[in-house]
Amino acid sequence: MPKFQAPRGTRDLLPSQKATFGRLETLAADLARRYGYRPIETPLFEDAAVFERAIGNATDVVEKELFRILSPTEAEPRWALRPEATAGIVRAYVEHGLQTLPQPVRFSSFGPMFRYDRPQAGRFRQFWQWNVEAIGDPGPAIDAEIVELGVRFLREAGATDVQVHLNSIGDAECRPGYVAALSEYLAKSADRLPEMERARASISPLRVLDSKDPNLAALIAGAPLIGDFLCAACRTHYAGLRRHLDALGVPVGEAPRIVRGLDYYTRTTFEYFVRGAEGSQQALGGGGRYDGLVELLGGRPTPGIGFALGIDRVAMIAEAASGPVEPARPVVVVVGANPEATDVRLRIATDLRAAGIAASADLAPRKLSRQLEGAARDGAHFAVVVGDELDAGQVQLRDLEAGTQKLVNADGLAREIARAQGSHRHGSA
Ligand code: HAM
Repeated sequence: MPKFQAPRGTRDLLPSQKATFGRLETLAADLARRYGYRPIETPLFEDAAVFERAIGNATDVVEKELFRILSPTEAEPRWALRPEATAGIVRAYVEHGLQTLPQPVRFSSFGPMFRYDRPQAGRFRQFWQWNVEAIGDPGPAIDAEIVELGVRFLREAGATDVQVHLNSIGDAECRPGYVAALSEYLAKSADRLPEMERARASISPLRVLDSKDPNLAALIAGAPLIGDFLCAACRTHYAGLRRHLDALGVPVGEAPRIVRGLDYYTRTTFEYFVRGAEGSQQALGGGGRYDGLVELLGGRPTPGIGFALGIDRVAMIAEAASGPVEPARPVVVVVGANPEATDVRLRIATDLRAAGIAASADLAPRKLSRQLEGAARDGAHFAVVVGDELDAGQVQLRDLEAGTQKLVNADGLAREIARAQGSHRHGSA
């Protein structure tokens, strides 16, 4: 038999990890509700052209990391698994005419993304993001709302020392001047650039700055900075954002070299780190403004801003902070004196479940003492012990925590358990 394994760069989220992810998804949904960001779900795959147009052909994400899908009826792969959520959400905004709603439209979306990345700690080929977008507001106040929302999520998830790295990468007015200066700088060192970077330097020089090649680090460090080229409107926007973030008490570090690895950004760009972990280059999340993207995907010119947080990375921090999530405990385990009477035990557990109680039944035909040991190991609060009393319509209800036991009517069992449970809360993950 071949030994099957999950594909490289993917992983199975076993119940304890899935519980952490579930807790983070619940936190994301709760924060989205509190901040007024409404849930949206877009397909896991899209026309590849959506990503090519939005993210840019010369980015790592499109050029090297896109999972293209060959469908049975097509000769060329037309679709691609989504490497991120923003392009799909903006496509949906345009497709459904959402610019007719009161603006901005605020979206929240949680789910898996796919990038053919080089797997390593904290970097996967299938990973999860919480993604937030506000489309239709030029800012800068909404930029601050978004940046602060990400910080709040990370803190509530258990990250104690979150640092925002902030930059502005200009707009259609001032970016061309910067790109020209950068091109000139890169041209002088063209012979030091590997082939792919040399091609990029002529198509999309900003993307050379994303290179993770250690041989290019010094060259990149000496490159001109976008901050020296910003136009008056971009400077005013940036100053406004800083003022709003100061008013919210969000800790910000200026990061003049953050350009982000996706082409759609304009003006505001930011990344989240745990202080001290910046050197790992593993941001917990990032985002920025994309004022040209709606138009690029066929809509009227409309500004937008958003972020995505890497849930796989946040989950590692959440688990380190509060330990793995305890597995759900049954409130009740139904056990019985007759090992073979699994039908009776299953029926009683099923009736309890139907009444809304987290119940399990011991379905192994084994001795009562072993069944009770199992109930204790599962952390159940109560055991329902089925014996001869059932002929008279009664069962024993044993409180495993208090060590007490009483005879109750099988008919009223659910009510009796709910009453005995009192203010205790059980059975939740
Ligand atoms: P991004 O920086 O490409 O931005 O990804 C955001 C976060 O997703 C990263 O900071 C990281 O935590 C996580 N991430 C990315 N790739 C991987 C991977 N291979 N394995 C594990 N985690 C990963 C975006 O995706 C933009 N769409 C964010 C955005 C939303 N901008 C505006 N709106």
